Amino acid sequence: MMQDINVNPNYVRIFDTTLRDGEQSPGATLTSAEKLEIARGLMRLGVDVIEAGFPAASPDDLEGVRRIAIEVGNPLPGGEELFRTVPVICGLARASKADIDKAWEAIQHAAHPCIHTFLATSPIHMRYKLRMEPEEVVDRIREMVAYARSLCEDVEFSPEDAGRSEPEFLYLVLGEAIKAGASTINIPDTVGYTMPDEFGGLIKGIVANTPGVEQAVVSVHCHDDLGLATANALAGIQAGARQVEVTVNGIGERAGNTSLEEVVMALNTRRAIFGFDTGIDTTQIVRISRMVSNYTGILVQPNKAIVGANAFAHEAGIHQDGMLKEQTTYEIMKPETVGLSRSRLVLGKHSGRHALRAHLEEMGYELSKEDLNLAFERYKNLADKKKVVTDADLEALIEDQIYQSHEVYQLEGLQVACGTMGMPTATVRLRSPDGEITVQASVGTGPVHAAYEAIDAVVGVPNTLVEFNVHAVTEGIDALGEVTVRLMNGQGTIPHRKSPQTEIMHARTFGGYGADTDIIVASAKAYLAALNKMLVALGRHQPAETTLISSPAD
Ligand code: KIV
Ligand code: ZN
Repeated sequence: MMQDINVNPNYVRIFDTTLRDGEQSPGATLTSAEKLEIARGLMRLGVDVIEAGFPAASPDDLEGVRRIAIEVGNPLPGGEELFRTVPVICGLARASKADIDKAWEAIQHAAHPCIHTFLATSPIHMRYKLRMEPEEVVDRIREMVAYARSLCEDVEFSPEDAGRSEPEFLYLVLGEAIKAGASTINIPDTVGYTMPDEFGGLIKGIVANTPGVEQAVVSVHCHDDLGLATANALAGIQAGARQVEVTVNGIGERAGNTSLEEVVMALNTRRAIFGFDTGIDTTQIVRISRMVSNYTGILVQPNKAIVGANAFAHEAGIHQDGMLKEQTTYEIMKPETVGLSRSRLVLGKHSGRHALRAHLEEMGYELSKEDLNLAFERYKNLADKKKVVTDADLEALIEDQIYQSHEVYQLEGLQVACGTMGMPTATVRLRSPDGEITVQASVGTGPVHAAYEAIDAVVGVPNTLVEFNVHAVTEGIDALGEVTVRLMNGQGTIPHRKSPQTEIMHARTFGGYGADTDIIVASAKAYLAALNKMLVALGRHQPAETTLISSPAD
């Protein structure tokens, strides 16, 4: 359970909304098994609150949140909870009884459930979106917060588009929400419009003028439309907020949300000026960043603060010279602090299963017997091909295995012929959901194209490849290759605005990930993973029942 702010007034709660606001980013669709793995990763990271989803959005969303509430939101059997924090599990609900009921249905089995309900308060939203008078908005907030409070002890209320709302009106609605039972009042800059001074001033005003504010925790939730989400969130904390809502890698609608790693590392690195504490184990940051990127198919830009591939790289000669003399000349944080020190795996290719299991457990992976056998077989294969197997290689291997473990169609084999002497040709061998094996050959402009054509001919779901990325997990010519793809359902469909009033996304995007020493195999795996997600989302197949590799609560 999170720290009591009354015990440590400088404790800032980290409320992670990767699985709710983050999952709303185009292409971030996650399967419920992936959501569960990310929730476990967030727990390991030490977040205080996991906003696990929006249960009223669909039965699948409700089920995903329910599984997280049960499996991540509870102490482990046998009292191991002493060694971990059991996070609050939160479900989002619009200000309606039906939504609040669904949220409660999903989260009620968590040890610490929380209902997060919201209603817009800006003149623009009230007039054009809600078509409600301000008095009606106040009444609805009062009624719905009280209703949520009748079900759940912990209720958060957000006045949507607070950044463009009248401060005096906010003081009124927030005071009413607290009176009706809200324990957290969250202030969203929904469209990323405010400047840091302005947003800090807004929070200061709320802390000074909202009736009953001392009974609630003030929270901030910023979007990055002007690239100011982190600056605004920090200004909000300095002005009195003690909860910050964030996503891993800053993913989210449009330009995204405040990024978890930026806020946490700013508070951590500049503690002397901030003086705030969080419960985050910063050494888990890189790992959760990679997991979210691989599962969503949304790559992290190389120059992204903290988690970008270049965040700790020093290219310029002068910088390298300085670094050799003294690391602090150009490094304000140690890479190890965010989990970047990639220790070389001491296991050789003659090491046994037991040693591999022990090492994986140290890395946070606890495998079932079958999963361990498979991982061991794949590790041996890799060790045969590669001189040095690093933790990064192992991470890629395990994540790839997680993907393959919940496939609808499975890649059983792939053979390609390519080069300058003929038509690039690929033959794939796929296992269908009912166990049928199909072998299919196709030609293409290159080996990846040929492989994708062959897969398409078997799976038969129209799609457009909108992004394809390949990169090496480690340095060296024998490195494992990682491929991420993003596919859109429908052929040649590009999402667009139908009219200014009705913004309709005609197509959804789905991410896929694959890793192998052969990048054509990795490409085929990534493509099939994205297609499998699409098939499940379109209701054409159920995901395979899986026993996912679970990470221990350490
Ligand atoms: O940005 C926003 O306004 C939100 C609310 C639901 C809190 O995500
Ligand atoms: Zn938001």
